[in-house]
Amino acid sequence: MKQRIKNTSLTQSSKIWLRRQMNDEFVAQAKKLGYRSRASFKILEIQKKYRVFSKDDTVVDLGASPGGWSQIVSGIVKNVVAIDLLPMDPIENVTFICGDFLNSFDDLYKCLPNRTANVVISDMAPNTCGIRKIDHIRIMNLAESVYEFCDYVLCDGGHMITKVFQGGADVDFLNVVKRRFGKVAHFKPKSSRKESPEMYLVCIGFKKSGIGKSIAWF
Ligand SMILES: C[S@@+](CC[C@H](N)C(=O)[O-])C[C@H]1O[C@@H](n2cnc3c(N)ncnc32)[C@H](O)[C@@H]1O
Repeated sequence: MKQRIKNTSLTQSSKIWLRRQMNDEFVAQAKKLGYRSRASFKILEIQKKYRVFSKDDTVVDLGASPGGWSQIVSGIVKNVVAIDLLPMDPIENVTFICGDFLNSFDDLYKCLPNRTANVVISDMAPNTCGIRKIDHIRIMNLAESVYEFCDYVLCDGGHMITKVFQGGADVDFLNVVKRRFGKVAHFKPKSSRKESPEMYLVCIGFKKSGIGKSIAWF
């Protein structure tokens, strides 16, 4: 049965958000399983389909708060280094930096055992304004920075997962990424809300010394 909201002091957008949360099967399931967010199911689906994480891996989780992805991934791999603008409650095996990823390449790098990562995952979302073109530019800027960071820390054969919006990644960006990874796919997990424009670019098998290493379009 659908749940209704009785609190009349809430704004219309808060009511819409709350109604969606209350009637969302993944929110209910996340609560039941003790997951920090419904986003946990997205990374589980990605792992099930692409097998990106292995037990000895070091993973960097960008845009990690409240910790749904870090919680799942830290249960699979050896080390997780996570960052977010917002604070996050501690998780065992997870080193957390509270700050802006865009200014923190060196801080993240210094937290990596052996100064290298096997997988970089990003669920970072920019503040959206509702204007499709602008929102697309904002998320592509973030995705390009994630790739730039991968160029810095990812080991040969490593993987990158980054959020993009519907319509997928820009052609120029995709061409660069395709040169540097063995396989590149767009993936929309079932647990991602249908009405959300988000999807994920899953990039498998980084070529550390591959052609096109210098990023001509940055
Ligand atoms: C969709 S939430 C991530 C949810 C998380 N994956 C989970 O499973 O709980 C997106 C996060 O990206 C963070 N974010 C956005 N831009 C960022 C930036 N430049 N640096 C660090 N975090 C950022 C936001 O603060 C927000 O917490």
